[in-house]
Amino acid sequence: MKPSMMRSACQLLRRRSYSSTSGQPERKVAILGAAGGIGQPLALLMKLNPLVSSLSLYDIAGTPGVAADISHINTPALAKGFMGEDQLKEALEGSDVVIIPAGVPRKPGMTRDDLFNINAGIVKNLATAIAKYCPNALVNMISNPVNSTVPIAAEVFKKAGTYDEKRLFGVTTLDVVRAKTFYAGKANVPVTDVNVPVVGGHAGITILPLFSQATPATNALSHEDIKALTKRTQDGGTEVVEAKAGKGSATLSMAYAGAVFADACLKGLNGVPDIVECSYVQSTVTELPFFASKVKLGKNGVEEVLGLGELSDFEKEGLENLKGELKSSIEKGIKFANEN
Ligand SMILES: NC(=O)c1ccc[n+]([C@@H]2O[C@H](COP(=O)([O-])OP(=O)(O)OC[C@H]3O[C@@H](n4cnc5c(N)ncnc54)[C@H](O)[C@@H]3O)[C@@H](O)[C@H]2O)c1
Repeated sequence: MKPSMMRSACQLLRRRSYSSTSGQPERKVAILGAAGGIGQPLALLMKLNPLVSSLSLYDIAGTPGVAADISHINTPALAKGFMGEDQLKEALEGSDVVIIPAGVPRKPGMTRDDLFNINAGIVKNLATAIAKYCPNALVNMISNPVNSTVPIAAEVFKKAGTYDEKRLFGVTTLDVVRAKTFYAGKANVPVTDVNVPVVGGHAGITILPLFSQATPATNALSHEDIKALTKRTQDGGTEVVEAKAGKGSATLSMAYAGAVFADACLKGLNGVPDIVECSYVQSTVTELPFFASKVKLGKNGVEEVLGLGELSDFEKEGLENLKGELKSSIEKGIKFANEN
């Protein structure tokens, strides 16, 4: 190639990469609970995400410091802190994705449901503000118990007349992250190649990893191995709660999982094809109104809720066993939202 042709080819390439960057839609992401154990590392990861142009960090305390710190990182996302309810409007307005890790975490001996009394009220208030200030945002609910907080948010949005089932997600990505890690270790396959769907809900036995569909497939695992992997995935959160011995629950792995899920939502919004993640959403996959399964993400949020695929007998049994608990957690959330 002549040097002049080479130069114009390089210029074209430069122009293309420049125009594809500037042509990317501006995206605002808000994190509610941004000064917490999950909120801070999640804020860091979202500040590093090139799809984010504006990062809004909201909490009832501590966000000026977190925002000042994060805003010095030389990535394009513009980070701003907001503290207290009178700044919630500004924090939320114009948001494309709102991530909610606000609320108290577990201590040893507690179940996720024990958090209900405190977190249900927090989620209800935040959902009310979302309905008012950014009703079109995709909501990524991290606050536990997710099995109930998602139905609470749905009820609040219904009452406000803003509910769109395509835009409300319970974040169950950490269950998938754990299932992938534990499977890779046991099956001795490269962890970055592993995929494992996790369905059901996000607490104890409602977490149902489908190791029969794990890829790369292996026949190195016995039924006992699968049972043990399933139990470890279901108890993964408790493993961390006990190891932290009173200092909270998973924060770093949760921030990673939250960032993976928010990135998938942003890619879907931007029209990137074939984005699929497991999430706890309004569903007709089973008779339960909310259920986690693989979800295809698109320009409006949920594009398609995918079915369960073929289950092993062990998974079929797990599915039947989880329905009672999941049903009552959903009903508890709906009741709370309508009575309080
Ligand atoms: N979905 C999951 O897989 C998963 C995993 C781990 C933890 N969690 C849940 O995430 C939540 C947060 O955990 P954490 O370890 O970050 O807790 P944390 O206590 O460290 O942080 C929570 C933050 O929420 C803030 N907050 C409280 N009330 C608020 C309100 N009304 N508005 C805005 N912010 C408010 C607090 O000030 C605090 O900064 C807990 O409910 C926990 O159970 C979910």
